[in-house]
Amino acid sequence: MRASKAPRGGSHGFRCQRGAHQMSILEIRVASKSGAYSVHAGSGAAKKTAALAQALGPATGVYLLSSPRVWRHVGRRMEASLRGVGRVPKVLFDDCESSKHWRTAERICRALVRAGADRRALLIAVGGGVVGDISGFVAASFLRGVRLIHVPTTLVAQVDSSIGGKTGVNLPEGKNLVGAFYPPKAVITDPDLLATLPEREYRAGLYEVIKYGVIGDAALFTYLEKNMDKVLARNRQTLDYVIPRCIRAKARVVGKDERESGLREILNFGHTFAHALESVSRYRRYSHGEAVGWGMIAAVSLGVLAGFTEEGDARRVVELVCRVGKLPSWLRGAEKELFQEMFADKKTRGGKLRFVLSPKIGRAETREDIPAAQVRCVLRHMGDTAATLFGRP
Ligand SMILES: NC(=O)c1ccc[n+]([C@@H]2O[C@H](COP(=O)([O-])OP(=O)(O)OC[C@H]3O[C@@H](n4cnc5c(N)ncnc54)[C@H](O)[C@@H]3O)[C@@H](O)[C@H]2O)c1
Ligand SMILES: [Zn+2]
Repeated sequence: MRASKAPRGGSHGFRCQRGAHQMSILEIRVASKSGAYSVHAGSGAAKKTAALAQALGPATGVYLLSSPRVWRHVGRRMEASLRGVGRVPKVLFDDCESSKHWRTAERICRALVRAGADRRALLIAVGGGVVGDISGFVAASFLRGVRLIHVPTTLVAQVDSSIGGKTGVNLPEGKNLVGAFYPPKAVITDPDLLATLPEREYRAGLYEVIKYGVIGDAALFTYLEKNMDKVLARNRQTLDYVIPRCIRAKARVVGKDERESGLREILNFGHTFAHALESVSRYRRYSHGEAVGWGMIAAVSLGVLAGFTEEGDARRVVELVCRVGKLPSWLRGAEKELFQEMFADKKTRGGKLRFVLSPKIGRAETREDIPAAQVRCVLRHMGDTAATLFGRP
């Protein structure tokens, strides 16, 4: 079986009948210096894994990389979708953030050697961002590089981490400090795989979804405003619209700036504040997505204060973030630590704070001219903003 060729960004040959309506799987191309690849996105896409794997050309062996938890939820489906490929050895490893280090990568590489993998092996990573980042790092390093397909199973992984080729592991000194840019050969994004995702993980992904609307897709933002209830209910048709829009938004950015030398920075909208919140709270209080939720509220507040963001747009962003649900409370009384942490952020250059701000929904730019006093002012007032939005903790 082979995947049929499709026009760029269009719908490809796979169409499956489900219930009354026909589903189509979109093919979204992502440009990359190491070779363009496609994201195949839509309900039912995972069923095409065998065909898409075979379309990449002959492999001496196909190896699944996943975590025990992910496999419990989606393993049976993935096994069914790989029937016809032959024996597919699996390597399972823990996917908690604290397992994202190179000893895990080493264990996976050794398991691959024992299973007989060679340079023409094909790895299929099935899981969230942790599985994807470790597997990407393994794929980049094992025998100096083997082919990889991502099958993302969290919303964060579907709209963010599986696209763009960033791979890596953590060091005790910090997150993602060791890694490589190593794009996959294909990504298979099936919203049906999200059905078992815990509510908090799902909502964490929604903040990144909103981010794409703010930085590059005003129509997506408006759609989210109109359809947030359906999005929260994981309505299949709604996700079949929303997820590909996010993939396209990310593909547009990383296609132009794969190595994060400029434009890619806009993907960090809300992240300067978010990283500070995560770090000062020692990664305990917020999931990354939740910190991004707060970060976006802070970023539009800063934008308004700096005279860069329209108040009406800022209000829309805050309202949409709030509709996702109640965020864990803001870190009151930690302005000083948060401010210091922001200076340690990798977006600081030459001692200047860099912020991604949005002049208008659908657009974003990096700014270096925001006075520190305004940043402090936003941090000081966020506790009150938070109380207004979500009530006192
Ligand atoms: N490479 C990138 O560009 C990039 C971008 C964003 C985030 N990341 C990285 O991604 C990681 C976070 O990824 P994440 O948010 O996907 O979380 P995750 O990988 O930690 O997964 C969250 C939890 O959900 C479980 N899970 C996954 N899929 C499931 C499913 N379908 N059903 C039930 N449970 C499921 C996992 O076992 C895990 O317990 C971080 O390490 C972050 O640094 C990387
Ligand atoms: Zn993020």
